[in-house]
Amino acid sequence: MSNVTFLSGENIPLEMHKVRMVQKINLLPIEKRLQCMKEAGFNTFLLKNRDVFLDMLTDSGVNAMSENQYAAMMQADDSYAGSETFYRLESTLQDIFGMKYFLPTHQGRACENIIAQTMVKPGTTALMNFHFTTTKAHITLMGGNVEEIISDEGLKIQSNALFKGDVDICKLNEAITRLGKEKIAFMRIEAGTNLVGGQPVSMSNMREVSRICRENGIPLVYDASLLSDNLYFIKVRDKKYKNIDIKEITREIASLMDVVYFSARKLGSARGGGMLLSDEKLFLKMRELVPLFEGFLTYGGMSVREMEAMTVGMQETLDIDVISQTPIFVEALCNELLSKGIPVVTPPGGLGCHVDATQFCSHIPQTQYRAGALAAATFIASGVRGMERGTMSEQRNDDGSEQFSEMELLRLAVPKRVFTLSQVKYTADRIAWLFNNRHLIGGLEFTEEPKVLRFFFGRLKPIGNWTHELIEQFRKDFGDSL
Ligand code: F0G
Repeated sequence: MSNVTFLSGENIPLEMHKVRMVQKINLLPIEKRLQCMKEAGFNTFLLKNRDVFLDMLTDSGVNAMSENQYAAMMQADDSYAGSETFYRLESTLQDIFGMKYFLPTHQGRACENIIAQTMVKPGTTALMNFHFTTTKAHITLMGGNVEEIISDEGLKIQSNALFKGDVDICKLNEAITRLGKEKIAFMRIEAGTNLVGGQPVSMSNMREVSRICRENGIPLVYDASLLSDNLYFIKVRDKKYKNIDIKEITREIASLMDVVYFSARKLGSARGGGMLLSDEKLFLKMRELVPLFEGFLTYGGMSVREMEAMTVGMQETLDIDVISQTPIFVEALCNELLSKGIPVVTPPGGLGCHVDATQFCSHIPQTQYRAGALAAATFIASGVRGMERGTMSEQRNDDGSEQFSEMELLRLAVPKRVFTLSQVKYTADRIAWLFNNRHLIGGLEFTEEPKVLRFFFGRLKPIGNWTHELIEQFRKDFGDSL
């Protein structure tokens, strides 16, 4: 995105790319959209893509790739062992992060599996600014606990804090004293903290956490899946880094960490994943698990074409025009919604616009999954597929009671370089309509509830007749518009 001033003085996101390949999408009539939602058990994960107009479920594996990424895929070196493609990827990552060892995996959660298996013992605790669903699942599977020590600002929907993903240093010190350092499996910092609204972590905070961890011999793990957004925010929100090269910032972050892992479905706009380490002992321990769960050490479950795309994609994250596109579009969508009085997480983060379902659907009890209901209503009203990030995304407690989420959010992800501004404006328009008619949205209840990661494939139904009332109102207001 560029810094171009418009005659009107308006701040309009201007794309620094052109579209040379397109995919047709369909906008079904609202009655059909309700039918599709019913067939999907009111879970947006279970919708078929052919029925979706704008897929804002996630940015995972759906970012637009560049022509150079596609070109690189054609020169991939197919080999089970010793592929040239792997060495190109390895040396690129070593150069960008300044770390010595690289292990390839098929995606981000595969790194989490290996990290949990090598570093978590039953009864130990992993501290983190905030959990991610798959991260927590792998740690608890190994008998470990997860404790979140994010700054209080991070949990406020609206805030002026520029780095809401920061770790609360007092809580970190307190946790080390209370638990004892030998009971702490590791400390984890998540870049662009996903579940609190894609919020960045500041360099000064990472530096302080790293200092405390090193003093106490606690390994520091960095989830870099959303690093590109975080790099953008460090560059534009921390004056000290305004003129510092993105690669230099990346290396500075990596120098503070013991393990850096990422989902390349997000970072680098490709597919796959991997881990970087500096410590040889830990590397050798983790290396044993790669052939067991992922594949041989020179592909780790990825196709050579994916690895080539990742190599180029990682180099492109050093380009401000590339990494600024999502945060700037997210800001545009957030501002459009805020101007209509709709509550969203502020300041706008990376990854997507996060609508606050707690305020939007305050009339729906938390036990009836208000964020899930808002996600379903949004699809019915617009054909836009978002994702519930609230209580449905939590796991029940051992006694079967609900683990209520601190935040009830509808995430509208803005994958990199995929949507146009008019599509963003359409989304804001339909959400505004829904907001005006929010009293019509009702709750949901499970009809099938899996024990682990229930939000992925659980099925629900609406409580009452609200979906039909919503359609009636839509027809009154929009006539026969799609
Ligand atoms: N860490 C973070 C911060 C993530 O956002 C994700 C995935 C993962 C780890 C796991 O990576 O999917 O490659 O196994 N986030 C996706 C999302 C699924 O939609 O936010 P993965």
